[in-house]
Amino acid sequence: MLKTRCVQRASLRIPRAPPSCRQVSNKARPQTRAATHPYAQRRQQHFVRSIATVTVLWATASAWSWYNGHALFREVHAEEPPPEQELKFEMPRRQAASKEENRDIISSQHLQVKRSWENPGVYAWGSNKGKVVAPDSTETYVKSARRIPFFDGKILRDLKLASTFGAAIDEKGDLLQWGTAFSTESAQPTHTLRGKNLATLAISRDRIIALSKSGTVYSIPVSQKEQRTGPKPASTSWIPFWGGSNDDISYRIRTPNSLGYSERVTDIVSGLEHALILTSSGRVFSFASGTEHYPRKGQLGIPGLTWETRPAGPFDLPHEITTLKGFPITKIAAGDNHSLVCDSAGRAFSFGDNTTGQLGFPFNPDSLYVDAPSLLPTQRLYAGTGQEATVKNVYAGGNTSFFTVEASKPNASARDPARVTADTWALGYGLTGQLGTGRWVHNQSSPVKVPAFSSLFEYDEKTNSIVPIRLAYLSIGQSHAAAVLDNIASLDVKSNRKHTENDINWGQDILFWGNNEFYQIGSGKRSNVATPTYIQPLDQAAEAERAASIAGGKAEKEQHRFQITPRNKVKVNGRNISMQQRVECGREVTAVYSAV
Ligand SMILES: *[C@@H]1O[C@H](CO)[C@@H](O)[C@H](O)[C@H]1NC(C)=O
Ligand SMILES: *[C@@H]1O[C@H](CO)[C@@H](O)[C@H](O)[C@H]1NC(C)=O
Ligand SMILES: *[C@@H]1O[C@H](CO)[C@@H](O)[C@H](O)[C@H]1NC(C)=O
Ligand SMILES: *[C@@H]1O[C@H](CO)[C@@H](O)[C@H](O)[C@H]1NC(C)=O
Ligand SMILES: *[C@@H]1O[C@H](CO)[C@@H](O)[C@H](O)[C@H]1NC(C)=O
Ligand SMILES: *[C@@H]1O[C@H](CO)[C@@H](O)[C@H](O)[C@H]1NC(C)=O
Repeated sequence: MLKTRCVQRASLRIPRAPPSCRQVSNKARPQTRAATHPYAQRRQQHFVRSIATVTVLWATASAWSWYNGHALFREVHAEEPPPEQELKFEMPRRQAASKEENRDIISSQHLQVKRSWENPGVYAWGSNKGKVVAPDSTETYVKSARRIPFFDGKILRDLKLASTFGAAIDEKGDLLQWGTAFSTESAQPTHTLRGKNLATLAISRDRIIALSKSGTVYSIPVSQKEQRTGPKPASTSWIPFWGGSNDDISYRIRTPNSLGYSERVTDIVSGLEHALILTSSGRVFSFASGTEHYPRKGQLGIPGLTWETRPAGPFDLPHEITTLKGFPITKIAAGDNHSLVCDSAGRAFSFGDNTTGQLGFPFNPDSLYVDAPSLLPTQRLYAGTGQEATVKNVYAGGNTSFFTVEASKPNASARDPARVTADTWALGYGLTGQLGTGRWVHNQSSPVKVPAFSSLFEYDEKTNSIVPIRLAYLSIGQSHAAAVLDNIASLDVKSNRKHTENDINWGQDILFWGNNEFYQIGSGKRSNVATPTYIQPLDQAAEAERAASIAGGKAEKEQHRFQITPRNKVKVNGRNISMQQRVECGREVTAVYSAV
């Protein structure tokens, strides 16, 4: 029975979707492991292309139990009856005119990948109070994915959203802005800062921080009025009118001026009032990125620095976080009022606001803020497992923090091979579900594992081995979040003879969770979600067309799920480009955009 379901699943249909991923624990669940060991399945899989798709189904038992909230850390066996699924193997269907048409009909996933290449652009949903998600509409909410027509056919370098403004960098590196906090006159995205070859964006409460390809950091007011009336820099271009630069808008350059000879800025992030700058030599700088308040919760990471004690000169000059010297920092993250960084040796540090435990170290119950970077005790989380833990990445949003860890046994043997486990941990505020752990808590100051993204494995056909499923990335909004899994995708099925009509493309799994007050999860419902969940495919028109082409016009029983297309070389309007879909969870809004 299991075998049949596996084949069905992989070749044809996506089950209605509780969270996808199977937890294969190394030790704790021998029974589960035996029942689902990928090699056992492999013997019979003719259609199965990747265990990734198969494991999803085995996951149902365990996933379902945490869905229902009563089995967070309980042992779950595959023998448990899975929820009822009415999977029909061969629905009668219209004769397909070609292999490619057959692929579209049989697979929502194949169609989604294809549509993402044929039809680049931006889908958005959530709060529309600032006309960010649907600039032409007066609706308060947009409940499920909708295109922003302005971006049809466009590919972007970056995109960041708040509930009252949006900012994007187009393919040429120019800044686009829209939303009521930008302007109440022009509804459509409008070019503002141009000619700077921008690459990366971050947003504070009222400013846009942008990083150019050459490593220059710009701080630009969100408001168009302020851009027009504020102080303008003297033109930095030594050839007048060169490069279409428009220095008629107000902005400040905030590149640290103490960079080494070949050192340059490689990343920027911003909270509501503070921004972090990372350089190629692993140094971190911070500066005040808002104009309403000076950061006063320690989020700058510079002990003793306040409005009163700040050095002479502009209030928003970058300062190096010198206490991090000796720790080559590789990743930076900013929540609204706190910061997280990790270094090349896999250590994580946090600083700033701790009112909801988002810094992760129970140390002094009286101190609400911590203004010096402090080491997160991550090794302790793996005490007794014999594993060594390395923090790979850090993420933050609102008053919640996340970090990903890879753990493995240092002394592997043939009997006990050094399998790498990839885990995701969450901490901080979780009252509306944004920790993704299935719990609703005020302050989670000791990190908890997010079961949906921890200890996942899949079978890699190319290397004949079991590999951990890592996260491709997390996008943490102010109160909701999304995770893209780095599962093995299939992107090379084209119209050529070597593929059969049952070979299909599929993308990567993406799950959403957290606060849903503004419909920012995209589930179409408004209830908060404490366990990562799938949403429907974004292009509902294409889905409907596909469903209609199944003979008999019977409405499909199954719900398909949105999968996001990872990076691939594709032809768009006659050009070869490397493109991917990316998700951006902002403040009360979400977008999926086509990115270079
Ligand atoms: C951070 O906040 C948590 C929860 O409020 C508290 O238990 C912990 O002691 C605080 N840590 C510090 C260093 O203040
Ligand atoms: C944490 O953030 C949420 C919204 O993002 C907010 O409602 C809540 O008040 C914050 N908690 C604290 C203690 O600031
Ligand atoms: C961050 O601090 C500002 C005030 O400086 C406050 O308005 C906001 O609620 C805080 N956000 C969180 C998530 O704690
Ligand atoms: C690994 O082996 C070395 C010596 O062979 C030993 O010193 C070390 O404690 C071992 N580590 C673990 C985690 O078992
Ligand atoms: C942390 O949360 C608990 C219950 O969720 C609450 O009793 C406690 O007051 C909170 N502590 C802080 C510092 O907010
Ligand atoms: C795009 O790539 C294909 C091969 O992948 C090549 O044949 C074609 O010439 C390229 N087209 C352009 C415009 O570069």
